[in-house]
Amino acid sequence: MSTVTLLSLLESEPGEYVSGEEISRKLNVSRTAIWKQVRKLEAEGYEIEATPRLGYRLLGKPSRLTVQELLPKLNTRSFGKNLRLFDVVGSTQDELRALAEQGAPEGTVVVAEQQTSGRGRMGRAWVSPAGKGVWMSLLLRPSVPLPLTPQLTLLAAVALSRAITRLVPLTIGIKWPNDLLVDGRKISGILLESAAEDERLRYVVVGLGISANLDAEDYPEELLEKAISLKMAAGQPVPRSELIAAVLEQFEQLYALYLEQGFAPIRALWEAHAVTLNRTVTLTTPQGLVEGVPRGLDDMGGLRVELPDGSFRTIYSAEVGTR
Ligand code: BTN
Repeated sequence: MSTVTLLSLLESEPGEYVSGEEISRKLNVSRTAIWKQVRKLEAEGYEIEATPRLGYRLLGKPSRLTVQELLPKLNTRSFGKNLRLFDVVGSTQDELRALAEQGAPEGTVVVAEQQTSGRGRMGRAWVSPAGKGVWMSLLLRPSVPLPLTPQLTLLAAVALSRAITRLVPLTIGIKWPNDLLVDGRKISGILLESAAEDERLRYVVVGLGISANLDAEDYPEELLEKAISLKMAAGQPVPRSELIAAVLEQFEQLYALYLEQGFAPIRALWEAHAVTLNRTVTLTTPQGLVEGVPRGLDDMGGLRVELPDGSFRTIYSAEVGTR
């Protein structure tokens, strides 16, 4: 008997007793085997009450993520099926990269409760306190030309935005390329790191950070006006396991669409969610400041910006600031 099945049985009757006899019958196991599994779940932080004659009932779940809870929630074909959960890591990006080098399959996921060196774009640190967010990395092994990998960044933003809005009633806007904003404040970040050899893409590690249940005191002072958590924005905590399952489901669906139909449908979805289009912005590019009005994406995923003289320039790397 796996703990997954016992847990699902107890979860199907929240707060109610399920008799030992019913469990034995449904799972085809002995009373001793049930007891062993109960002890195992308790060791993982589940609170289970065992009462003679009445049976077992689930009184509390660990606030920590568990594989037992996560796996049955996954509505995916392969994404997340190979799942590694860690309490503390430096960065989930590094853990997943090591697994990728050992041949881990596409869809492998690393999740951590806490990152001590979480990293963001442009060499920034990513605040990743214990038990409060979704800090995860997803392995992709697409056969697409290396220069097209930025398209996956945009795909990731659409997937995250769709997943979050399925669970939390918030309006989310995407700031190019992939920041998700609620009322102009960042709730999540995406970091793509690729491994290539001889101009050929070997794999992509997609880092996804969702500030799910952070409280104001979890943020450094200077970030507070720029960042917000889903809990702070929506006024209630978000179940992290549901969020992870929703992200993987949306990601797998959009990725399949992308591999089948190319970038066009992703581009249309991204543009529909974008908040940085058709208004004047300042872009900090590696070549200097550019002011203009972004009008949409090009075929590669670059941002097409209309300059004050009416000409167009495509930007592939920049930080967008609104005026
Ligand atoms: C950004 O907006 O700057 C990107 C932030 C990406 C953060 C995630 S959290 C999981 C993964 N591990 C990391 O170290 N970074 C990414």
